Amino acid sequence: MRLLQSLILGIPVVVAGSPVLVERAPTAPFGLFAYGEGIGGAPVFTTGDGAYIGTATHTDDSEAAQVEFITATDSSLLANPNVTAANEPTWSNLTFNVPDNTTSSHQVGFTNTTTDGKRSGFGFVFYGEFLLHKSVEGDLESMWYAVPSDQDGIWSLNWNSTDDDTEGKVLVTLKATPPSKEVDNENKA
Ligand SMILES: *[C@@H]1O[C@H](CO)[C@@H](O)[C@H](O)[C@H]1NC(C)=O
Ligand SMILES: *[C@@H]1O[C@H](CO)[C@@H](O)[C@H](O)[C@H]1NC(C)=O
Ligand SMILES: *[C@@H]1O[C@H](CO)[C@@H](O)[C@H](O)[C@H]1NC(C)=O
Ligand SMILES: *[C@@H]1O[C@H](CO)[C@@H](O)[C@H](O)[C@H]1NC(C)=O
Ligand SMILES: *[C@@H]1O[C@H](CO)[C@@H](O)[C@H](O)[C@H]1NC(C)=O
Repeated sequence: MRLLQSLILGIPVVVAGSPVLVERAPTAPFGLFAYGEGIGGAPVFTTGDGAYIGTATHTDDSEAAQVEFITATDSSLLANPNVTAANEPTWSNLTFNVPDNTTSSHQVGFTNTTTDGKRSGFGFVFYGEFLLHKSVEGDLESMWYAVPSDQDGIWSLNWNSTDDDTEGKVLVTLKATPPSKEVDNENKA
């Protein structure tokens, strides 16, 4: 199937209409991991606002923590810090969201409300292990990409790379499955 092939290859996809998805979201709390060229399953983390990928504890921000997601009403995803992974930040119960096409910022984010005019905090669906977003028109989209930050191994997690010419951006897919080996993806032959 074309959708699955594109996702496996890490190609951004938009599928018009509402194909029937048989897969369901995880029922237990889960982490999200980004996969793309040179990014072998880096976890999603936040400092309580923007979304990033990489190892939260490699930043020196005490609010930075890997995110533990749960699915909620309207296919929204609520975010809490995974404190097993280290820091104990002050934020909790934030709503994951993607910017809409009227927003100049491409960064995926977290807010403490489900309604933020220019962002969509609902419509997140899983196709197998892949996280997609369903637009209000019913189109299924996977348009995740990563933009390097000024810190090695930390990327900003963004949405919709169309018209974004940032150097070094990497198209990624988001999955609820961690990499089979924690680290050292680069060292694999
Ligand atoms: C929380 O972090 C620990 C340690 O990194 C990890 O083993 C566990 O799977 C994470 N839990 C979730 C729900 O992401
Ligand atoms: C992606 O960005 C382009 C250019 O800004 C815009 O035309 C398009 O509607 C956007 N798509 C989505 C799904 O937001
Ligand atoms: C943004 O998305 C809406 C709804 O899909 C669409 O009608 C509009 O043309 C898009 N705007 C741009 C600039 O792409
Ligand atoms: C929600 O976030 C805004 C801005 O970050 C903050 O000013 C406000 O106090 C927060 N509200 C709650 C209920 O946490
Ligand atoms: C968590 O956030 C959701 C969405 O904003 C809200 O409906 C719910 O009441 C919040 N739960 C707690 C325990 O604050």
